[in-house]
Amino acid sequence: MASNTAPLTAAPLTADSSTASSDAAVRVRGFSRRFGDVTVLRDLDLDIAPGEFVALLGRSGSGKTTLLRTLAGLDAAPAEQVSTPGARAVVFQEPRLLPWKKVWRNITLGLKGGRTRLQATAALEEVGLGHRVDAWPATLSGGEAQRAALARALVREPQLLLLDEPFAALDALTRLRMHQLVLSLWRAHRPAVLLVTHDVDEAIALADRILVLADGRLAVEEKVALARPREAGPEFQALRRRLLGHLGVEQPLPRDTAPLTFIPPAAGLRPGWNRPAAVNGHAVNGHAVNGHGGHNGVLNGGAHHSAPLGGGLS
Ligand SMILES: Nc1ncnc2c1ncn2[C@@H]1O[C@H](COP(=O)(O)OP(=O)(O)O)[C@@H](O)[C@H]1O
Ligand SMILES: [Mg+2]
Repeated sequence: MASNTAPLTAAPLTADSSTASSDAAVRVRGFSRRFGDVTVLRDLDLDIAPGEFVALLGRSGSGKTTLLRTLAGLDAAPAEQVSTPGARAVVFQEPRLLPWKKVWRNITLGLKGGRTRLQATAALEEVGLGHRVDAWPATLSGGEAQRAALARALVREPQLLLLDEPFAALDALTRLRMHQLVLSLWRAHRPAVLLVTHDVDEAIALADRILVLADGRLAVEEKVALARPREAGPEFQALRRRLLGHLGVEQPLPRDTAPLTFIPPAAGLRPGWNRPAAVNGHAVNGHAVNGHGGHNGVLNGGAHHSAPLGGGLS
């Protein structure tokens, strides 16, 4: 994966790398990226407004990390095609803390000045890790390590925060807590955010706008007008179904529209024509579905999903 080759710290943060115009945090025009014969990003356009929270979905290998690395400045791009703020920070799926440096020194890696411990302490307090300033990374839980990675991003006061599946390796409860934390940090600091995720529910819970990357382009845009905190009501479900459809994930049909299936006598059930249940936890079309008539919206590759969907997304 491309992200494995990225530096351990956030993207270069020099002010002179700022090329964004004042009315957009990110502006991409006609950007293409090839690896050998393979075109991963094709004539791509993207705008992110200052302070906007955008989620990016797409199948595994669709180029999400490639786009994020480009916006982070980790891959070179022509300035006339890709403009971003100078102050950027990245959080990856793995926290990338240097094990031989205490947590606070990891937070301020690369920062200059005599106030770095104070800065680190403030950022760690903001993510609820004020008591772990002098801890070694190996003693942190997965959630704590990822909060430390968020603190490392925060201390750089980014105008653009790039998150590449940052919660994918966390358990469900920790992930929900991280969602709340990211939202509160975003409200307090108002960076533009690009969150790459394979979790449709996560995208809907957090983002102002959701994009789907397919065939090298941003094929779908959905604005999320729901008030936060977002509960899984009818609008949430409808948006989730649309997004999963865009991602090519087979959807269980509502019970009254599901196709009739013949149940043979040998099946141990009452034989005859019947509709497969899309509710009550039965399997539909080979997918386990939960009691809400659908899976949990997580698309393969997370450590936390309950329904194997095989969508090939990461
Ligand atoms: N440095 C690289 N060299 C060659 N191919 C790459 C490199 N980085 C990514 N790719 C290829 O580009 C495609 C998109 O990768 P990536 O952006 O990591 O996808 P995603 O994050 O959506 O899963 C994949 O086919 C991947 O193998
Ligand atoms: Mg990726």
